[in-house]
Amino acid sequence: MPQQALSTRAGAQSGPLAEAFDEVRAASMALAEGLSDADATVQSMEDASPAKWHLAHVTWFFERFVLKPHLKGYDGFSDDFDYLFNSYYDAVGDRHPRPRRGMLTRPRLNEVMAYRTHVDAGMRTLLDGDISDDLAALITLGLHHEEQHQELFLTDILHLFAQNPLKPAFRPSEPRLMQQPASPLAWQRFEGGLIETGHEDDGRFAFDCEGPRHKVWLEPFALANRAVTNGEWIAFIEEGGYERPDHWLSDGWATCQAEGWKAPLYWRKEKGEWWTMTLRGWQPVDPEAPVCHVSHYEADAYASWAGARLPAEAEWELAARGHPLAGNDAGTGRLSPAPQTGGGLAGLFGDVWEWTRSAYSPYPGFRAAEGAVGEYNGKFMSGQMVLRGGSCATPPGHIRGTYRNFFHPGKRWQFSGLRLARDV
Ligand SMILES: [Fe+2]
Repeated sequence: MPQQALSTRAGAQSGPLAEAFDEVRAASMALAEGLSDADATVQSMEDASPAKWHLAHVTWFFERFVLKPHLKGYDGFSDDFDYLFNSYYDAVGDRHPRPRRGMLTRPRLNEVMAYRTHVDAGMRTLLDGDISDDLAALITLGLHHEEQHQELFLTDILHLFAQNPLKPAFRPSEPRLMQQPASPLAWQRFEGGLIETGHEDDGRFAFDCEGPRHKVWLEPFALANRAVTNGEWIAFIEEGGYERPDHWLSDGWATCQAEGWKAPLYWRKEKGEWWTMTLRGWQPVDPEAPVCHVSHYEADAYASWAGARLPAEAEWELAARGHPLAGNDAGTGRLSPAPQTGGGLAGLFGDVWEWTRSAYSPYPGFRAAEGAVGEYNGKFMSGQMVLRGGSCATPPGHIRGTYRNFFHPGKRWQFSGLRLARDV
């Protein structure tokens, strides 16, 4: 396993690690509250996974990589689950095809919950004993993995519920919050130069792809004080942003045409007003909130139309240095982006993942670890773009300034938006 993944926030004492384990596992259970077996089983598209699959897969990670090799006498829950709930780890055998995860009407949701209880009991036994540093690091990785799936759980449930004409709310709709104006667009200048970027090997957890720390040269640049808003995006639509190829990357325009994009995912115009699907059901688009559910292609076209560009990930990371890791994340319970206000750079963390112009590629010196856990990040470093900063669906405490999320440039079901940059 890479060095970065070996470092652990909780250390080798099982007490804090056991507490962290309980917290993360309970957070997943809280997400599942109120879902029917049907809600948790249906798969709305190939990219999305059923809620039941997420709940089982994160559990399988602990069973397959922690309990089976490290807890003497551990009795596996079901021999079939290795096949059903392996996601992409070639090193540990065959698996059920991703596009067919929605066919798994069995095991039932309550059996998946029993699986979770079984594995939790095993983990509790393990955590009661002495834990080596390496094992603590592996369990910590499992916890961060489960948190990643908590966000995917939300994005996938939103996509599923958006297919239903009843437009069900995942969590009850709240009375409309007082509409706050977003800060007027302003630019913060950075001198750049030779800077260091990436995770510092300081004992705190990071995914392996966030390091090694290395030097990059940045020309002077400016970054917008907040993310692009829905109101600004509506201007882009009204000025023909989706109608003309002028500002689009070639692949982007081809995708826009093939998919028939006319607005962000989930948007629909009703009686002259834009509405959108949210985790709180069908809602009017708030012109002051950051635009969400746009692809990298759309973000890039918008930036070009606006006379700007997307930031490079090293620029974003430099700008975010020293900013508190706080914002409108899943911990606020709002579950949708909120208007970004205040001085300085607002909303760097939370609200929407911000697309960058940087390809998801290895930093200088990066080596994927040997073995199954080495498949965690490294093998996805082709054809994907980096997003920074977390979203309104990211679990609190899960985000960092060095965090590199990544998706294919045509995907838009994540909570993805953009912040403009420009050369100065
Ligand atoms: Fe996973």
